[in-house]
Amino acid sequence: MIYIYGGNLYTFLGNEAKRGKEMSDINIIEDVGILVAEKIIAVGKRQDIETQYIKEISEAIKIDATNKTILPGLIDCHTHFIFGGYRAEEFSWRLKGDSYLSIMERGGGINASVKATREASFNDLYESGYSRLEKMKKMGITTVESKSGYGLDRDSELKMLEVMKKLNEDHPLDLINTFMAAHSVLPEYKGKEKQFLKEMLEVAKEVKEKDLAYFIDIFTEKGVFSVEDSYFYLAEAKKLGYKLKAHVDEMSEGFGGCEMAVEVGCVSADHLLKVSEKGIEKLSKSDTVATLLPLTAFCLAEEYAPARKLIDSDCVVALASDYNPGSCHCNSIPLLIALACIYMKMDIKEVICALTINAANAICRQEAIGTIEKGKQADIVIMDCPSIDYLVYGTANNYCQTVIKKGEVIYRG
Ligand code: NIG
Ligand code: FE
Repeated sequence: MIYIYGGNLYTFLGNEAKRGKEMSDINIIEDVGILVAEKIIAVGKRQDIETQYIKEISEAIKIDATNKTILPGLIDCHTHFIFGGYRAEEFSWRLKGDSYLSIMERGGGINASVKATREASFNDLYESGYSRLEKMKKMGITTVESKSGYGLDRDSELKMLEVMKKLNEDHPLDLINTFMAAHSVLPEYKGKEKQFLKEMLEVAKEVKEKDLAYFIDIFTEKGVFSVEDSYFYLAEAKKLGYKLKAHVDEMSEGFGGCEMAVEVGCVSADHLLKVSEKGIEKLSKSDTVATLLPLTAFCLAEEYAPARKLIDSDCVVALASDYNPGSCHCNSIPLLIALACIYMKMDIKEVICALTINAANAICRQEAIGTIEKGKQADIVIMDCPSIDYLVYGTANNYCQTVIKKGEVIYRG
């Protein structure tokens, strides 16, 4: 057992996703007491907890959090962190005026990572994946959504997903797997996208039978997969038992990806840099989570997703890194927070909401994680600052000091 005391707790309450004004409705307990085993046993005013749980506290490991900020473990609900090779040269090409899609068209982009990932051994992917998880842990991330999609054939996609399964077993962070073979079109499938998707649905069936992925995802974009093909693919995948996600409205204006994602029943619609008015309206009337990825917009030097408009229109907004070898080789949560507050005009309370309970909803884990309440999994982060305001004020500084996962200290800085 662990007893955390002193310090200021900031958490949302309940399992439901928060929208509009609810995203600022954070619950604060100053001088808090939190008693945890694998799950949270009790949380409240320190004085109350200490009179009620005398014996348990006397036996517990004690962590003094006086003057510190306590948050639910952060959830990175959109990553592509398993990949072979790097694409550093693409960043400088983009800085000189090349676009992401034009690099992709001439064989770079995702297809370059596919080649490197196919060549990588299980062990290579496992080792690099493990060290990336270690870096995430040090920023207070306790759960990670992880996409395949650099294999694009049965064996390589299964290899990626098996690596994730083993990492989930061996590393303290929890991984939620997404099958994303519909990530790119290889030259041999140009003009035969639907055939490729049908083949990948066969793989999806096997992946589901082996219980290797909970979600399925597709890159709906000009030159990649059309809105019509995406709808077909996701609707078929739903019948196989998948929960749905889609990369939509990232690069092209008026493509209709967001509308498609809501209509087919996606749990989340991700990116949304170019989301239309109609897309926003549809989202606001649905439970689909708008997962925004500011680090990608930053790295691509694109305009940010209209976070303010989405929140003010009552959409459910989550934030994630999108960490991947191409469009966003960055997973800095401190930088993400800075971008969300400074450029997307989100309040820090909304940002915390977007990285905790709303992110939990984006991966369907809201019953277990995302808030600090009795009965929830004891995933807790202690930041070395007295209030959440410092997370913006100390721009891009990593304040994370202690990380507790399922009641165990997994990091102390
Ligand atoms: O979310 N847009 C598609 N997928 C990733 C990029 C992957 C890559 O460039 O390797 C994204 O931005
Ligand atoms: Fe992505």
